[in-house]
Amino acid sequence: MFKKINTALFALFLGIGACESAAEKTSQQETAANNISSSTEKPDGMAIFRQHCVICHGSDGNLGLNGAKHLPESVLPLEERINIITNGKNLMTPFRSQLNPEEIQAVAAYTLTLKK
Ligand code: HEC
Repeated sequence: MFKKINTALFALFLGIGACESAAEKTSQQETAANNISSSTEKPDGMAIFRQHCVICHGSDGNLGLNGAKHLPESVLPLEERINIITNGKNLMTPFRSQLNPEEIQAVAAYTLTLKK
């Protein structure tokens, strides 16, 4: 009878051990991924645009929701775009708390590529 309990406990330990090492692995992988994106890779302007801007501007920049400017027709230079994205303007929400300066720069540069 004791033998049976011991085997059960042993199996339990094995199970916990396996879970722990798996969790460790994923967190190590995550740290590695974070390091890559923060140090070597530039932020992806298109991905940021898809995530934060298409709701109002549309994927081609022409949706115009809530009076959003048609981005392909915008004549604003990069610095002005960075300023508007950072601080917002009228119905456009500011992004300074959601995006870091590099991300804002990247998405501003991406909006310039929407020009025909
Ligand atoms: C809540 C809706 C909304 C979201 C989300 C939004 N915008 Fe806007 N955007 C606007 C509106 C409205 C304007 C027009 C502001 C004005 O001049 O009155 C505008 C204007 C702009 C302009 C200036 C265009 C011009 O020529 O005046 C740029 C550049 C711009 N948005 C880029 C972005 C980027 C990049 C994002 C994502 C990081 C974004 N917007 C997210 C609503 C939005």
